[in-house]
Amino acid sequence: MFSRLLPVWSFFLLLTTLHPVAAVWPAPQSYTKGNTTLYLNQNIKVTYNGAFLPYTYGYVPSGFSSKEVVQAGVSRALSGIFESKFVPWVLHKPNSKFEPDVYQGQNWLKTLEIIQKAEDKPSAFKPLDNEVDESYNLTISTAGDVKLTAISSIGILRGLETFTQLFYQHSTGTSWYTPYAPVAIQDAPKFPHRGILLDTARHFFPVDDILRTIDAMAWSKLNRLHIHVTDSQSWPLVIPALPELSSKGAHHPSETYSPADIERIQKYGVHRGVEVYFEIDMPGHIGVVSLSHPELIVAYNEQPYYWWCAQPPCGAFKLNNSAVDDFLEKLFDDLFPRLHPYSAYFHTGGDELNKNDSMLDEGIRSNKSEVLQPLLQKFIDTQHSRVRKAKLTPVVWEEIPLEWNVTIGKDTVVQSWLGGASVKKLTAMGHKVIDSNYNFWYLDCGRGQWLSWDNGLAFETGYPFNDWCNPVKSWRLIYSHDPTAGLTEEEAKLVLGGELAVWSETIDPMNLDTIVWPRASAAGEVLWSGRIDPATGQNRSQIEATPRLNEFRERLVKRGVRASPIQMQFCVQGEAWECEYPM
Ligand SMILES: *[C@@H]1O[C@H](CO)[C@@H](O)[C@H](O)[C@H]1NC(C)=O
Ligand SMILES: *[C@@H]1O[C@H](CO)[C@@H](O)[C@H](O)[C@H]1NC(C)=O
Ligand SMILES: *[C@@H]1O[C@H](CO)[C@@H](O)[C@H](O)[C@H]1NC(C)=O
Ligand SMILES: *[C@@H]1O[C@H](CO)[C@@H](O)[C@H](O)[C@H]1NC(C)=O
Ligand SMILES: *[C@@H]1O[C@H](CO)[C@@H](O)[C@H](O)[C@H]1NC(C)=O
Ligand SMILES: *[C@@H]1O[C@H](CO)[C@@H](O)[C@H](O)[C@H]1NC(C)=O
Ligand SMILES: *[C@@H]1O[C@H](CO)[C@@H](O)[C@H](O)[C@H]1NC(C)=O
Repeated sequence: MFSRLLPVWSFFLLLTTLHPVAAVWPAPQSYTKGNTTLYLNQNIKVTYNGAFLPYTYGYVPSGFSSKEVVQAGVSRALSGIFESKFVPWVLHKPNSKFEPDVYQGQNWLKTLEIIQKAEDKPSAFKPLDNEVDESYNLTISTAGDVKLTAISSIGILRGLETFTQLFYQHSTGTSWYTPYAPVAIQDAPKFPHRGILLDTARHFFPVDDILRTIDAMAWSKLNRLHIHVTDSQSWPLVIPALPELSSKGAHHPSETYSPADIERIQKYGVHRGVEVYFEIDMPGHIGVVSLSHPELIVAYNEQPYYWWCAQPPCGAFKLNNSAVDDFLEKLFDDLFPRLHPYSAYFHTGGDELNKNDSMLDEGIRSNKSEVLQPLLQKFIDTQHSRVRKAKLTPVVWEEIPLEWNVTIGKDTVVQSWLGGASVKKLTAMGHKVIDSNYNFWYLDCGRGQWLSWDNGLAFETGYPFNDWCNPVKSWRLIYSHDPTAGLTEEEAKLVLGGELAVWSETIDPMNLDTIVWPRASAAGEVLWSGRIDPATGQNRSQIEATPRLNEFRERLVKRGVRASPIQMQFCVQGEAWECEYPM
């Protein structure tokens, strides 16, 4: 045991940190708990700003008033406790006594008093990053009174999720309890933008899979779902003004999102404090438009693909063709007014534009940066002014400012993925940044190639068939990444947060959950709680985090998400130190 090597005082410190800690993922900024057991039943009296709030099972709000959002949050929190049937034997040694004696007299939770200290601004339900205050305080007294305070209804949702995670079901099957009273929590997020990017073009994800992903995001206190909705491989998005886009561009008519589907996904997110925003990646990654509008696209399905793009079937907008503009005007006039009620952002893409494509464009015939750059600048200026006119804020991939030197507006958010010094460069230039460093936060990586190699020399070239971003980003690696590492204080302020990328070449509804969860939750803790633990001033420790993530993973599974295990069951049932690398 390594503790022998350390001074006596640290032994006590270690004892407290090594002991299985209770619940709550991501870690609250400050959290104290006791050891009194309190039971919960459906008679708990819930009030919201003094008014009685009925616990309506399965309550789904019809609108977006603060009261409806809070009432739905209470309904989900309580049914999350009553229905998930989480008897936590799996967190304890076999044959150990891990639960209270239910026949020894039960002390009940009596009241859940919810106080929202300010009125929600209209932007609370479709905020720009930093526009909504998600902080909350939660206390549970040994006398059975719960108090939850927040500034916004979204903060209340965050606090209700924390509340849910304090409870277990008793093995008798008809009692629910928290063993942790009294509880005192003060909490607020480190970063305002805590997201997942879901690619629905390489594989289609039915609405239900997206809604389940939104649920698990809200449980992890993630709050932005970025849907990379189209790419060169498919166009699943139905645009009533341009129906040929999806009728010719979807993988199959069954694999499309109608306007009603999009609205349903966005509203579902709003009710859970998860803002859903969309990306139409351009001017590259848009080859699929060639199937309905071949005159707008260059290099579609050209071979060998790697001369023209990063993966088949290639295709980019022609950058010197006014028909592209007319097309985009029609597209955006249809789409933006439908997205605007529920999102603040629209992502115009801009990654991996290959200079060679314009060699094939009869309107340009050049692959020279100095020829292409002004055309791209004009393209971005025009499209971003359309985004702004629709009262949305543009987001672009980092290549637009860093590789192409395109000037973008002060409002524009830049999503970084290439790692290295990119975030530093972007923030030094004064850009607001979302970090998706592929070395840490690409969840698709490390599971091998999807390209096939012929026998012979090709086989030798490809062997052992790793993918470009090998290896897998384990939760530990994901958890080690601090998006603000190496930045000055001024630069760090410009980092709005990050997104985990779910590029879906080899991901579909069958393996979505196991690939995303609980790894996205690990980044969720970095983004909500911060990489540095304010209590110690040190990087958060895997040893402290592991039992909590094990517990959170069990809760994900109990709540209907097929999350992967992160340790063998011996470790889940054991003490953290038993599965610690013995230095
Ligand atoms: C509960 O906590 C109190 C105060 O820290 C302590 O004195 C007591 O021994 C604990 N009881 C149990 C059963 O752990
Ligand atoms: C939480 O409690 C702290 C300390 O009392 C207080 O400063 C803060 O305003 C409270 N926050 C909320 C959302 O109630
Ligand atoms: C661009 O295309 C030419 C053929 O026209 C090819 O030789 C060259 O390698 C391509 N450039 C890149 C970066 O692939
Ligand atoms: C530009 O095109 C020329 C001629 O095909 C080719 O040799 C060169 O590699 C291309 N440059 C890039 C950056 O692809
Ligand atoms: C763009 O097209 C116009 C004619 O439509 C032509 O005059 C101009 O030279 C082209 N620009 C480039 C960079 O090729
Ligand atoms: C952008 O600027 C960098 C640094 O000045 C330069 O190396 C690069 O060639 C420029 N790219 C374009 C497309 O002008
Ligand atoms: C946290 O870990 C990073 C490496 O992941 C390291 O560079 C940094 O110094 C550590 N911070 C502290 C406060 O220990």
